Amino acid sequence: MKPIYLDYAATTPAAPEVAAEMARYLTLDGVFANPASRSHGPGWQAESAVEDARRDLAELIGADPREIVWTSGATEADNLAIKGSVEAAVGLDYSRAHIVTSAYEHKAVLDCCKHLETFGARVTYVAPEPDGRVSPAKISAAITPETVLISVMHVNNELGTINDIGTIGAEARAKQISFHVDAAQSVGKLAVDLKRLPVDLLSISGHKFYGPKGIGALYVRRSPYVKIAAQIHGGGHERGMRSGTLPTHQIVGIGCAARLAKQQMAADYAHLERLQAALMEGLADLDGCFLNGSGPRFPGITNLSFAGVDGETLLNSLATLALSSGSACNSATVEPSYVLKALGVPRALAQSALRVSIGRYTTQSDIEGALQAIRSSVMRLRK
Ligand SMILES: Cc1ncc(COP(=O)(O)O)c(C=O)c1O
Repeated sequence: MKPIYLDYAATTPAAPEVAAEMARYLTLDGVFANPASRSHGPGWQAESAVEDARRDLAELIGADPREIVWTSGATEADNLAIKGSVEAAVGLDYSRAHIVTSAYEHKAVLDCCKHLETFGARVTYVAPEPDGRVSPAKISAAITPETVLISVMHVNNELGTINDIGTIGAEARAKQISFHVDAAQSVGKLAVDLKRLPVDLLSISGHKFYGPKGIGALYVRRSPYVKIAAQIHGGGHERGMRSGTLPTHQIVGIGCAARLAKQQMAADYAHLERLQAALMEGLADLDGCFLNGSGPRFPGITNLSFAGVDGETLLNSLATLALSSGSACNSATVEPSYVLKALGVPRALAQSALRVSIGRYTTQSDIEGALQAIRSSVMRLRK
């Protein structure tokens, strides 16, 4: 029997509509030509499919299609946003650059910042609050005259907590500092309207909202104009910001996922709220079960600690469930998640964490199965 899939924050399955559409852009009888081929009809057809998808993704987030730069995913988008804006601001003299970010960003942001630090950049990592959100006041207090970029994620991938990117963005805008948001966990699932939000750069990942893996985008604002330096050179695709032959099938896939997200966002959200409430209700009478990140949350992600239980042992005992713990393991030690550590969750509790992440195709019976498995494993391990 297949395990119950509760790891939607790691990746979602592609929607069947997405997979069907992608299949039409691969083979000889489909639209397989290079979208940059300007000298023949098949190339124009591929280009037109790419541009339709660009418009669909732009519409989902309230952007102009010319503000969408295709990338291989959110990791690449984060790298392009951070390295690209630092380089555009100070050239390669990184010692003149200061970045403000949070201590619980995805590694795609943190490792990028660490890399720039090795070349002399200075980075302030603002700790999140105990409720799992980043304080806009603390971000503001970390700004110095050298700050060239602020990068704060929208929805945290381990906790589901939602940051107030409107307030942080307004402060960045007032001080004329570029503001990057990693929105890998929110685009397609929560309303993101860049007509209203003062965000300059925004990272998107296709496989987090029922599109394919290996495709994403960086939104780059045109007004006020935001300058980034390309990090991948060759061919001048994507208005010079990201070269490389565009993967038409992946792009129509993310475009289709964007159209579906727009149609289904309210229904998806209500579905997740119902299932999350059922999950929490089913654990309410289990002693020593704690929710990590109590601030406003996206209902698809629930991070729970179980006192007196080791998370890895718990995870291993839950063979009927496909989910992840809050811990990042390496072969020598099992370290508690840096996200939970940054929140100040005590080590033993951080080590007992599970992330339950649900999505469009999760059913009530999946939640019942999960509850039964979690409750019985926790009780057995405590004995
Ligand atoms: C917040 C966040 N940022 C970035 C990424 C990386 O996205 P991708 O897999 O598209 O590179 C993820 C996915 O793990 C994520 O959750």
